[in-house]
Order: sequence, then structure tokens, then C-alpha cells
Amino acid sequence: MRKPIIAGNWKMYKTAAETAAFFEKFNPLVAQSTHCEIVICPTFVNLPAAVGAAKGTRIGIGGQNLYFVKEGAFTGEISGPMLEAVGVQWVIIGHSERRQYFGETDASVLKKTVAALDTGLKPIVCVGERLEEREAGKTADVLTAQFSGGIAGLDPAQFAKIVIAYEPVWAIGTGKTATPEIAADAHRVIREQAAKQFGKGAADAVRILYGGSVKPDNIKGLMAQPEIDGGLVGGASLDPVSFANIVNF
Ligand code: PGA
Repeated sequence: MRKPIIAGNWKMYKTAAETAAFFEKFNPLVAQSTHCEIVICPTFVNLPAAVGAAKGTRIGIGGQNLYFVKEGAFTGEISGPMLEAVGVQWVIIGHSERRQYFGETDASVLKKTVAALDTGLKPIVCVGERLEEREAGKTADVLTAQFSGGIAGLDPAQFAKIVIAYEPVWAIGTGKTATPEIAADAHRVIREQAAKQFGKGAADAVRILYGGSVKPDNIKGLMAQPEIDGGLVGGASLDPVSFANIVNF
């Protein structure tokens, strides 16, 4: 059985005070929610505030990125050991916004995933096709290329520790959710790649989250698909009531 994960990606939103206010409202709303793992990924500067606010709860805190070198002359970057040292357990890697605006590639995604695992962080590795790729019928090709260029470079022990997020770029922040069937189809493509590379057991065990305009009113339909093991939620994770409703789908 794959335990669901509901993860919130706060992107570049919220101050430290807003972070504290969120947890104050959110914590009691999910105190009984043992059916899934809950993860929240604030900005780097608010990680200590979030770790503090989530102390004593089952909520895990994640970074939204990391650099693959432990330390050095890399102005503006943050390493895995630095995240780990402030109490962070998870990290999002290769989000489409990182790929689109900050030049991340499947190769850098692989390096970052290995670096995260070396530090003991749990990576949520993002893949997904752009609108023009879907319209050209290339979704499966894109997912396959992202898998072979990135995730396939892990060894089996490393692969067993990652979570994959399928996020079709056309559904992110647009209000256009993939239908549960479209999402499940893409998840099957990813799982087939995983089976080819790492074997059926490993493919059956890996959790694949769906991301892209997940909201309280569509999470139930998505989670009804056996292929979908949770959600990576952007906009709707910023409000404590909305995110709690998603967690408690
Ligand atoms: P969204 O973002 O839920 O606002 O569409 C999802 C994501 O980018 O992870």
C-alpha cells in the first residue's frame, strides 16, 4: 500500500509572520489526519519558522530547491546539509518553474536528487509536459525523456527513496486541472518507465503525486484513481482551511 502524500508548494509567497499565522490555523484542522503524510514547502527564509510551528505535529517541512554541492563559493545557493540542519525533511526538485525560469535540466535534477538523498532529505522530483507538447501528442515522449535523463540515473536504493510529482505545465496555476483519467494515464507512463529501469516491485512502490490546480473540490476525484498517490498543491495550499480540506479529502 502506498501511503498518500499531500504536499503544499508555497512558491514565493508568505512572510515569517504569515507562515506562523498559517500553522496556527492549520495544525488543529489536520491533527487527526493520519491517512496521509502532510508536507509544506515554504521559502528558504521561512523554513526555521515553519519547522518551529510544525514541531510536535505530523507535518513535514520541505525546501523548494537545493544546490548539489555541500558548501562553497556559490553565491545565493543553499545546500542539502543546510536544509537538514534547520530541521527540513523534504525537498522539491526540478519544479517546472525552476526548469522554465532558472535553467534546470534533467541532468541538474539528477545531481540535486542525489545530493538530497546523500543528506537524508526526501526528494519530490517533478516532471511534466508543456501545453504545446501535449497538443503535439508528445506527452509520453516528454515524460519518458525526463525519466531517462533524470530519475533513471539513480541506483535502485536511491530510487526507492524518492517521490515523483507529475505536474503538467499547462495545469499549473491556470485553473485547468488534468482530468483524473488524463493524470492517471501520465502516471502509468511514468510507472512503466520505473518498471523498465528498476523492476516491477520498485515501480509499484514509488509514490506519484499529481500537481496542477489541485483544489478542495477536485482532490477527491483525483485521489479516486488508484494510480494517483497524492497531490502537490500550489495556490490552494496557501490558505489553511483550503489546504486542510485537500488533506482531508
Ligand atoms: P498550482 O501549482 O496548484 O497553483 O497549480 C502547483 C505547483 O506548481 O506545484
